[in-house]
Amino acid sequence: MGRLKELRKYINSELEKMENTDDIFSAANHLYGVSLAATILAKKRGLDPEIAAMAGMLHDMHAYKTGSYDDHAHKGADLAREILSELNLTSDEETDAICSAIYHHDDKYAIDAPMDELLKDADVIHHTLNDTSKAIKEKEQARYDRICEELGLRS
Ligand SMILES: [Fe+2]
Ligand SMILES: [Fe+2]
Repeated sequence: MGRLKELRKYINSELEKMENTDDIFSAANHLYGVSLAATILAKKRGLDPEIAAMAGMLHDMHAYKTGSYDDHAHKGADLAREILSELNLTSDEETDAICSAIYHHDDKYAIDAPMDELLKDADVIHHTLNDTSKAIKEKEQARYDRICEELGLRS
């Protein structure tokens, strides 16, 4: 089994533990959506698409496991490190890149390393394009505009 598939299998089994079916679908929709957006951005930017996809799959797991978004990015980076070391799918360098991206993913105004920025942008793509009838959050507008410019999308 490929390592992305193996990670997804693990994440599916964790999401299945959530009590509410709507929450499971919503969480899966977001994680898989961000993972795909991260893959597309990695292909565009010359970064590793598999690592980008794995970061997308893991990025909000702490929030889904605990039901709280309180400091979920920083705590989520620690959780991702635990999961990745348990599954033994990534090198130390790859684990660091994934965990750094998750650690920074809620800092939407700051500019961080390329893979960190990629995960923030993938998160914003899913927040904004999953349902275009919803208003774009103020903290995501500038980043959304930059992504549209980069990808040649009409905003
Ligand atoms: Fe998040
Ligand atoms: Fe997210």
